[in-house]
Amino acid sequence: MTMNHTTLRQLFTDFWKERGHQEVPPAPLVLKEDPTTLFTSSGMQPLVIYLAGANPHPLGKRLFDIQPCIRTQDMDKVGDNRHDTFFEMMGNWSLGDYFKKEQLSWYFEFLTKVIKLPKNKLHFTIFEGDNMVPRDVESAKTWKDLGVEESHIHYYGIEANWWSRSGTPDKMPVGEIGGPDSEVFYDFGTPHDERFGKECQPNCECGRFMEIGNSVFIQYKKIGDGTLQELPQKNVDFGGGIERMLAAINNNPDIFETDVFSKIIKAVEDVSGKKYYENKSAMRIIADHIKASTFLIAQGVKPSNKEQGYILRRLLRKATIKFKNLEKKINEQDIMAVAQSVIETYKEVYFDDTTGKIVDNEIGPEIFKFTSSLDKGLKEIEKLIQLKGEITGKIAFDLYQSYGFPLEITEEILKNKGQKINRDEFVSEFNKHKELSRSASAGMFKGGLADQSVQTTRYHTATHLINQTLTDLLGSDVSQVGSNITGERLRFDFTSSRKPTDEEIKEVENIVNKKVEEGLDVYYKDIPKDEALKLGAKSFFKQKYPDIVKVYFIGRERFKTVPYDVYSKEFCGGPHVKNTKEIGKISIYKFEKIGNNIYRIYAKNK
Ligand code: ALA
Repeated sequence: MTMNHTTLRQLFTDFWKERGHQEVPPAPLVLKEDPTTLFTSSGMQPLVIYLAGANPHPLGKRLFDIQPCIRTQDMDKVGDNRHDTFFEMMGNWSLGDYFKKEQLSWYFEFLTKVIKLPKNKLHFTIFEGDNMVPRDVESAKTWKDLGVEESHIHYYGIEANWWSRSGTPDKMPVGEIGGPDSEVFYDFGTPHDERFGKECQPNCECGRFMEIGNSVFIQYKKIGDGTLQELPQKNVDFGGGIERMLAAINNNPDIFETDVFSKIIKAVEDVSGKKYYENKSAMRIIADHIKASTFLIAQGVKPSNKEQGYILRRLLRKATIKFKNLEKKINEQDIMAVAQSVIETYKEVYFDDTTGKIVDNEIGPEIFKFTSSLDKGLKEIEKLIQLKGEITGKIAFDLYQSYGFPLEITEEILKNKGQKINRDEFVSEFNKHKELSRSASAGMFKGGLADQSVQTTRYHTATHLINQTLTDLLGSDVSQVGSNITGERLRFDFTSSRKPTDEEIKEVENIVNKKVEEGLDVYYKDIPKDEALKLGAKSFFKQKYPDIVKVYFIGRERFKTVPYDVYSKEFCGGPHVKNTKEIGKISIYKFEKIGNNIYRIYAKNK
């Protein structure tokens, strides 16, 4: 069977309305009141406050919607049959009303009776349990009672069957809430299908199975010491991508062949004069990225060098490069033509007559500018390859400095020359530069450390705790403007629009010492800059960062896989202690105003 997206939207809407659910209007892609995320990336994000039980939802306890989402963390994965940065999540929620049995039974009914997926093509995953939360036997029993065979039920740990998020809607932090989940996968293969791996299971990446929906049972909140506390209510948070659901209904694993993509892919074919089946990966990236860009622009985001605007710029640039890879002499008209096909696809649902013009007005100058500097940069790269043989991480860094080519774009250009850039070298080059410029401007060594003895390392980690605690207490206008550390003491300078009281400074000391006592893990990850920004990692001295940055986290081991609510996250080159216990208790022994809205703290071990 094939189904179009309009029909699927209607079926989903009718199904939940018949079961007493109210439709929530979709939230914008940029949630202005929630600084924990750059974009709405799931249906539950705008509902965090209600799931936490902090407020009743004005529409009641049973809700559903179809929510446009952007997941930038999937940007590098786009190109296969199933990943996209922009997608629409169909969701339903119980806010402390029905729970596992009703949810799974209804979802099963929707899958097998409404969109008529064959039962034997469906697989079900369950949280296997750990030392804090037991195995989800109730979900397993419900699936079995519905007639699911034992061999179609699979158990996984928190990396696959746990969902949690935090949010700060309306400036009211609710912390990280979550719970075990049960996912449904559609099997595009047959029992002994040679197209796929022998050891395949639902979470395998080979392409045989595709997740088409996730029922999360949100019932916990993470509290300060890393343990889980029961929320005042047990919730259901369901989400399933419309694109993947359509692919399953069509029994075709390529989401780019569903009708939310077909017009867009056709436009890419027309513009490039190439065929989709010979250029799938490039055309999928172009279609997805221009789709995401069109939605962002339609919602008022403009290309820029920071935050959402920078993601938009990268999406448009990458799509442009991909057109170049198709040997197409690209100009802004081509990108606009593809954007118009996006508007055409969704005009009944999201857009009106003015959208086309708004989108053209942003894309035109942006692509015009980029294509001119692209040509210069490309010539330079050709020259460098001839001269040096290969583009090293250091050269890539130079290109970043002089042409503003983000690492990822240089990688993109080199990919079809069969060259790969050493990312580590790029990052280390960047860090070297960062340290040099910092020490030159502030007369300091690495990260403000006068030497790297054990004691200064302790104080360095303490500054991260102080930084975070000040922000939590005084508000987001706190930002670090300097630090200086010796073996004797630490000094920390920061901005604040008002002078903290003596009590507040005492409170900073108390909280920092509490974090020391809690023995939090200190660890780092090299991650894409946009992801780091999205996580809300603090950055330093307003400087430019490369595409891959080192971020130090201070938090609980358990949440390493979900680094959204660790205590502190900062762009930083290190070094740090491994655990906050190593710091020892500190005392803030001096506090002073050193400039207009600038304050200085001195602290040392007790
Ligand atoms: N919030 C859950 C997810 O996005 C449903 O997978």
